[in-house]
Amino acid sequence: MLGDDELHVQIRSDADVVLARQEGRRFASRLEFSSSDLTVISAAISEIARSILEYARTGDMHIKLAEKNGRVGIVVVARDEGPGIRDVELAMQDGYSTSGGLGLGLPGARRLMDEFELRSEVGRGTTVTMRKWAR
Ligand SMILES: Nc1ncnc2c1ncn2[C@@H]1O[C@H](COP(=O)(O)OP(=O)(O)OP(=O)(O)O)[C@@H](O)[C@H]1O
Ligand SMILES: [Mg+2]
Repeated sequence: MLGDDELHVQIRSDADVVLARQEGRRFASRLEFSSSDLTVISAAISEIARSILEYARTGDMHIKLAEKNGRVGIVVVARDEGPGIRDVELAMQDGYSTSGGLGLGLPGARRLMDEFELRSEVGRGTTVTMRKWAR
């Protein structure tokens, strides 16, 4: 589960969401993130993992080191083969929820991370890619 430069967590239960959050934080702590950045990263991972569980039932998260323009950070790729999202722009708005939730998971994760990309196809699934750069 925990390689040297890559972390993979399958999401199938609440315990897996907790594991992704904890192991994701531990993975990120090898870089020069402040402790508030580490908290932000684990919160974003937790929200995205929770959405996989809630809407797609299962999926997986890959967390890797990222590099761009001389900066280092982490990249989180979360994939599921669930129902997908019909209107991604709408789903990214604060307060939009199809489950009576707060509708803050996706837009919250976007605000917490430096880069956020959501691709989804109805009937095929959803992929979220998000990055945070270290100091
Ligand atoms: N992986 C996913 N697969 C399918 N639909 C999703 C997925 N993630 C989010 N959605 C859809 O996007 C909507 C918004 O998601 P978001 O996480 O922002 O809010 P929420 O889960 O409804 O509430 P919460 O604030 O508790 O997270 C969801 O209600 C759901 O319809
Ligand atoms: Mg959610």
